[in-house]
This record gives sequence, structure tokens and C-alpha cells, in this order.
Amino acid sequence: MSLDQKQLRKVGLAGGALAAAVAAAYYGYDQYTKRYPVYKEQCALFKEYEAAMLPPRSEMQALEDDILKQMQTGMDKANASDILMLPTYVVKLPTGDETGACYAIDIGGTNFRVVYYKLSDKRGVIEEQVMKQVAIPKAVYTGSCNQLFDFLAEQLADFIKEQEARHKDAAASAALPVVGFCFSFAVEQQALNSGKLMGWTKGFDVDGVVGKDVVALLSEALARAGKPCRVLALINDSVGVLTASCYMDTATEMGVILGTGTNACIVDKVSKMPKWKVKGVEHDTRTAINTEWGCYGSVLLPRVKEDLELDAASGPQQGKMLIEKLMSGLYMGDCARRLLLSFAQRASLFGDVIPEALTKKDSFSTADLCEIESDVTPHRSHVARVLQQTMGVYPDTVNLETRYLIQSIVRLVVRRSARMAAILLVAVLRLQGWQEAPRRLVVAVDGGVFLKYHNWRVFLDTYLREAFGSRAELTRLIQFKPTADGSSFGAAVLAAAAASS
Ligand code: GLC
Repeated sequence: MSLDQKQLRKVGLAGGALAAAVAAAYYGYDQYTKRYPVYKEQCALFKEYEAAMLPPRSEMQALEDDILKQMQTGMDKANASDILMLPTYVVKLPTGDETGACYAIDIGGTNFRVVYYKLSDKRGVIEEQVMKQVAIPKAVYTGSCNQLFDFLAEQLADFIKEQEARHKDAAASAALPVVGFCFSFAVEQQALNSGKLMGWTKGFDVDGVVGKDVVALLSEALARAGKPCRVLALINDSVGVLTASCYMDTATEMGVILGTGTNACIVDKVSKMPKWKVKGVEHDTRTAINTEWGCYGSVLLPRVKEDLELDAASGPQQGKMLIEKLMSGLYMGDCARRLLLSFAQRASLFGDVIPEALTKKDSFSTADLCEIESDVTPHRSHVARVLQQTMGVYPDTVNLETRYLIQSIVRLVVRRSARMAAILLVAVLRLQGWQEAPRRLVVAVDGGVFLKYHNWRVFLDTYLREAFGSRAELTRLIQFKPTADGSSFGAAVLAAAAASS
């Protein structure tokens, strides 16, 4: 149905009532909604969603406890828990003393990066860094194995040749280039430089890769591209941010990704992970553990009908990565779109019409969601602009009250995302017994949701306090350290360390 401007104007005429009604939803009085039944309906619906998506803290305790239990099971036994707790074979974290030239190839979203680093002899200093980012065509990230790896290898081979042309000494060296491979999917590692893909996530669906060693696939493709390399480290992006941050600040104990997907890497003693049978590593050695917390799913998650529909539309990833679908950049925008659609259908959010784009998957991105949520202009002009750009709704047909309501609906998605992150973080800290001996904790974080979205971080802080309950002051001991592009650097530095050991 096309947009009926008359209808929308009618809604617009109601003036200040809806703002008061939205406020009423918060403050518990509803005299305004009695005068305007449509607002009453919208407020009631808003309350219904708020209660389902942000249930009382007491209900969230069971979720936190279950996440903790799943993490413990994941540490004890392989394939016994949703939260995989994967060994990474990283048993020596960078100290800043690593030196030399190295490359990183970093794939984890629909963009991938190749990077050249020259590590200085001075501790913790990067002398030179050159980066190239390339978009991966959909045909490649949903195509065949050789298509994907040839694409990656050709880009890397060209990039290395460009760098060698600038550094004649490197080109003259007989040693093959050293490469760290950041591959941001769940991988069962057999060594630091080999691991089999366990399953695709984040919209990737490439045939013939699951169960294969991705380092071997990359090395073979590099040979086919005429540029054989030594791929010496294979890491997850969460491990990458942790290691990158350690290079500058050895106090880092956790790496977190809050971007297209979400994940965390922690550091703990080998003895805490009985399932990892590895020879030649002492039991009290500290190792990086890739939690793959985004895989968690249970009925305890505060999901609504729109989440179930979003999941059902996720193709081969249906039924998987359920907490990630409530939190990460790939999904938040579409979840908000689905909520707005329900409000349009059930409570005439746009009058009697439903903007057509609102019915289309991915017509509303997480960047759109951030813009709407962060709008503090008096007339909520950004809300109106985004609605016009994404759905063709004319600004003068959406009154201020509707703009406020839309912002509040969108904010539910953001608040829930930050709350899930807080619960996951607190569960990890409980797993490590941090609350019993609290100390300064540096958490390196990468990913657009965290880095580009201030309000999300504000909500994270609120929900961390909530999760710590009577010990809310513990929040102050946690220092979130933005580590943009850390994943690539972490891969490169680990490869450099492996090359010199
Ligand atoms: C997905 C992947 C995980 C990755 C995360 C963030 O959850 O399974 O390996 O770390 O996205 O990119």
C-alpha cells in the first residue's frame, strides 16, 4: 500500500498528545491516552514490548546464571555447550618486543582487509602501517570455496607485491612473507596455524569450507596466485583485539567484538579448560580462549515475535547465534524495522498506511537505527530525515509525538543489545572469579556498535551497574579500551612472534 499523506496528516494533527502519551508509558499515568484512542493503543503496545524485551532484573538473573553454566560446560567438554569456549593455541601474548615486517589478512564481515606492518625495535611501537580494505561481493561470500579463497589470495598477493615494490630489501629477501590470518568465525584449531571452520555466521554461506583447514585453503590459493607465503597464525577477531591491545598494554585480559557479530576472548590458565589436551604446555600457562558467546541461545532470552521472524528469515543460520541476533550490528536495524512494522500494523503508527519499505528485509540498517536513537534535536529532525530516506515518509506527515514514539521503539532494541552485552560480560567475570578479587581490568573492544555509537556505551554502563547490583561500583574498575582494527594487528603480531621463535 502506498503512503496516504492525508491519513498521516490526520495523525500529525493530534499535536502534543503522543509525546505526553509516550511519557505516560514511562511515568504510569494515562489521562492523555483517554482522549486519543490511537495513542492509548500505541502506548499499550509500547508497554507490552518494553516488558517483553526488557524484563525486570530478577528475570535476567536466570539468564546470567545459565550463560555462566554454559561457559563452564564449554570449558570442561568439547561440543557440550552452546558457548563453545574454543582453544586458540595462543599461549604467549605479545609483550611489545615483537619486531619485523608482517602482513595480516582479516576477514569477518562483508569487507575484508589486508595490512602491512613494520614493527619497530622500540618496544610496543608500530613503525609503519599500510591498509587496504576491499568489499567482498555477495556472489563471493555466498559462492564456492575456491571463489572465496582465490579472491582473498589474489587481493593479498597484489597488495604484497605493491609493498615489496616500495621496500626493495623485503622483495630481495629469500624468506617468504609472514602472514597472520584473522578469520572471524568459529574454528576448531589444531595448532596456532591451522584450524577447521565449524560453521559460517553473519550471512556467509560458502560451499565446501565447513570442516576444512582454512589456513591450508588460503596457502593453496596464495600458491595459485603466484605468491606463496608463510601463514603462521590463525586467529579469531576477538583474539586479535586482545593480542593487539596486549602489544601496547599488557594489562589487557579480555578482547570483545561488538560489531557485525559479537564475541569475546578471555585469558585463563590451561588447567581451567580440562577439555584442551595439549602437549608441551604447562598447566598454569595462561592462554587465550575464544568464547564464541554469540552462539548462546535459550528460552531465557527476552525475545519477541519479531525476533523469531528475523531468525526464521536468516536462512542457513536459522536457530543459531540467537543472542548475537539480539545484539549485533548485522541484526539490530532489521529488528527495529520489524518492530516499527508491527506498530504500523497493530497501532496505526503511520495512520492507516504501511510504508512499503517497512515490509522489506534490510531496508533499515543499524546505522539508521543509531541515527534515530541518538537524535536530540528539538524536533527530532534526524528521526524524520531517516524515515524519509529509508521509507519515503514525508517529514511533515510525522508529528513530533510519533517521532518520539519511533525513537523509543528503536531504543528498545539498543537497550536490549547493551543489556545482553552487560549480562555476558558479568557472566564471564563470574567464570573467572573476578568479583571475589576485583582489580583493574582492561577490556579491548573493536566493532562499529561499540566504537561509533556513544549511547550504546552509555546503556552498557547502566546495565553493568544493574548486573553488579549492590556492588555497582565495580563497574569503575573495568576500562573499555577502543581498539579499532585490532584484529588485523593481533594476527600480524602473532605471526611475527611465531616467525622469530
Ligand atoms: C560471529 C563469529 C565469531 C566472531 C564474531 C564477531 O559471532 O562466529 O567468530 O568473533 O562474529 O565478528
